[in-house]
Amino acid sequence: MSEIQESPQLPQPYRLTRVVSDGRLTDELANVSRAVNLGFHMAEPDHDFLVHYADHVAGERLWAVRGPEPELELPGLPVATLASYDSTVNTGHGHLEPADFITDVTVRPTHRRRGILRGLISHDLAVARESGRSMAVLTATEGAIYGRFGFGVSSHDQRVEVISDGRFTLAHEPEGSVQMVAADEIDDVRREVFDAFHRSHRGSHGRLDWWVEFAAGRWDYEDQKPNRRVRSAVHRDADGRPDGVVSYEVTESFGSTLKVRDMEAVTTEAELALWEFLASIDLVTRITASKVNPSTPLPWAVRDPRVVRFTGNADLTWLRILDVARALAVRGWDHTGSVTLRVIDPLEWCSGAYRVDVAEAGSPAEVTPVRDRDAVALDIASLGSLYFGTVRAEALAGARRLRGTPDQVRTVARLFATDDTPHNITEF
Ligand SMILES: CC(C)(COP(=O)(O)OP(=O)(O)OC[C@H]1O[C@@H](n2cnc3c(N)ncnc32)[C@H](O)[C@@H]1OP(=O)(O)O)[C@@H](O)C(=O)NCCC(=O)NCCS
Repeated sequence: MSEIQESPQLPQPYRLTRVVSDGRLTDELANVSRAVNLGFHMAEPDHDFLVHYADHVAGERLWAVRGPEPELELPGLPVATLASYDSTVNTGHGHLEPADFITDVTVRPTHRRRGILRGLISHDLAVARESGRSMAVLTATEGAIYGRFGFGVSSHDQRVEVISDGRFTLAHEPEGSVQMVAADEIDDVRREVFDAFHRSHRGSHGRLDWWVEFAAGRWDYEDQKPNRRVRSAVHRDADGRPDGVVSYEVTESFGSTLKVRDMEAVTTEAELALWEFLASIDLVTRITASKVNPSTPLPWAVRDPRVVRFTGNADLTWLRILDVARALAVRGWDHTGSVTLRVIDPLEWCSGAYRVDVAEAGSPAEVTPVRDRDAVALDIASLGSLYFGTVRAEALAGARRLRGTPDQVRTVARLFATDDTPHNITEF
């Protein structure tokens, strides 16, 4: 089912429709799925894939752009897509803030650079703002696309490679125990562990439930079929409570590289115990993982630190603040101070000066719109990057993205510094 939506942002002669999924496959949903796969160079979806797609997008806002009539090229397929849904982001001190999660952004190659993406994303952000969302988030395929819409890099994907031959030994024995679990028995425990992780980690982004199927290997979007090489294990703490889950695959039979598909660890003890378990697996000499805790204790916990190599640190999530006063008020502040920020917003929604007062660490900030020409100036994307504490204000000042006197920059740096390192393990 779909309905035409008015969107003054979209260039002529394109029309915006909103497609609704109740979980059942329709021709219209199949065409949206085909358009998404086309955009991301994925294989043309087969029937199984379409059935999964219809189920996974149930409840999402599915925007589909129709081209000029008559449709001579790929009849039935939208020329552009964007999906968004509501989930939560941990803004620190356990607060889970509802946010607009944007995904599946595609524009057909023959319709690019005509302003369709600009129209689509402006429309989705406007809908999110009207429904009271203070922020929107996404992960990006390319780094140069979303800054112009006010998105700033807000968390990083830390990748590591671990040598798991005889050189891997931990200097202490982590508490608890690790047990392997069958692919069809792990979902509830994964949900429980992820929920605990999400509530306890600043910068964590919520997950849709289809993730459990993907993580366990029962469905793989890339291969359009189950991945039966995936194996899973659970860590339980000394009291027997699950606090860590790992799913992994060894990509070839008798291969030597083990790829971590999903790792969730609520505590560093659970994380180290899962690493020790992975390193103990026979026939494997190399482990690769992404979305590792940026301040992981692993290199400090092994006897030979050279068995852990950081292989990459790329942008993972991008944050677009839609309501500065609300977003700053719900942030978990670890330090006290006062500063006035002059925010510049390319879409004009958030432009203005805001005085931020944190009287007591751990209590909410008071945020007041003010008139102040001498305030620290920064663009809304940079505020998104400062938000979880992923970057310090000095780095943004050095990059000329934040302007103020050295004293002002130090004040912003101290105020936005966080005691915990932001860590997100969700890609969407
Ligand atoms: C990226 C993509 C969505 C852009 O769509 P589009 O309709 O061509 O974009 P628009 O015409 O609305 O462009 C809006 C602005 O973004 C810029 N832009 C668009 N794509 C860009 C890219 N890949 N890199 C850098 N800038 C880009 C345009 O130059 C334009 O800038 P301006 O308004 O400041 O002049 C499209 O190329 C695509 O589908 N790519 C493949 C799938 C993909 O990567 N999706 C993103 C998933 S996160």
